[in-house]
Amino acid sequence: MRHFLSLNDLTADDIRSILDNAHARKSARGDKPKGTVDDDAPLAGHTLAMIFEKSSTRTRFSFEQGMRQLGGSAIVATSDTMQLGRGEPVKDTARVLSRYVDAIMMRVKSHETLTEFSRHATVPIINGLSDYNHPCQILADLMTLEERGLTLKGARIAWVGDGNNVAMSFVNLAAQTGIDLVVASPNGYRLQGQEVERARAAGAKITLTDDPDAAAAGADALITDCFVSMGDDDYDARLEMLSPYNLDEARVAKAKPGAVVLHCLPAYRGQEITDAVMESAQSAIWDEAENRLHAQKAVLMWCLER
Ligand code: CP
Ligand code: NVA
Repeated sequence: MRHFLSLNDLTADDIRSILDNAHARKSARGDKPKGTVDDDAPLAGHTLAMIFEKSSTRTRFSFEQGMRQLGGSAIVATSDTMQLGRGEPVKDTARVLSRYVDAIMMRVKSHETLTEFSRHATVPIINGLSDYNHPCQILADLMTLEERGLTLKGARIAWVGDGNNVAMSFVNLAAQTGIDLVVASPNGYRLQGQEVERARAAGAKITLTDDPDAAAAGADALITDCFVSMGDDDYDARLEMLSPYNLDEARVAKAKPGAVVLHCLPAYRGQEITDAVMESAQSAIWDEAENRLHAQKAVLMWCLER
């Protein structure tokens, strides 16, 4: 069974086939109304359960609409309205929901909840963000970079800011895609060294630095995320340490001309990114948000082997 918990688990061919399907399906839809079903309705009759332990706008709406477009349907719940929130064990919930639906997407506080769910479920489990990573987001990011004309192999991708869950998903696919990943973060907010070493051992090209301008220099793409993620409680310390790592016009100017700017959203203008950069021609942020829909449809098809 194909779970989608981390891009570590996917081969280069898996990633390529998901991206190719996402591009093809996006272009095949054209201007059809957004709630209409794709011509081939590949997931007709299928249902996705979605469980949220944390807030979401993009993940929730794009998965639900994605299932509709694939011919299927979705059932959404927050964990605090489920018996899970009153202490029903994860393993019991996993087995019961597996009897009702064909796949389960979860956004969790702890990645361990996802892995435990996947051990007991008998249907595919999809990671809609954990404290460890956010694989759906990065497939949408790769799709967006390709739309802007970048070839992933050898592309210099600069992550500037917190070495967080979203950054980790770039580490998790650096080896399979051949990207040249540079991550600039301050002391205390760096990526877990062990994970970076594991990716390097698999062939990934990853440079870690504490110099945000050096990371931006010559980059094909500049990417950041909020400085304070859901669940972080050290707000003031984070802003103090991470403020010098923001994406402003001066820093973007150090990258290659026309370098693509991405941000997974939600964004906090004036913290990790300026309004001018978000609204600039180099920003592909709105396409990136749209591509969550197309990339996740391809993930759903991959998990269900359609
Ligand atoms: N980027 C992203 O995952 O957004 P949401 O938190 O709104 O789902
Ligand atoms: N790093 C952010 C991403 C939100 C989509 C968080 O975990 O809150």
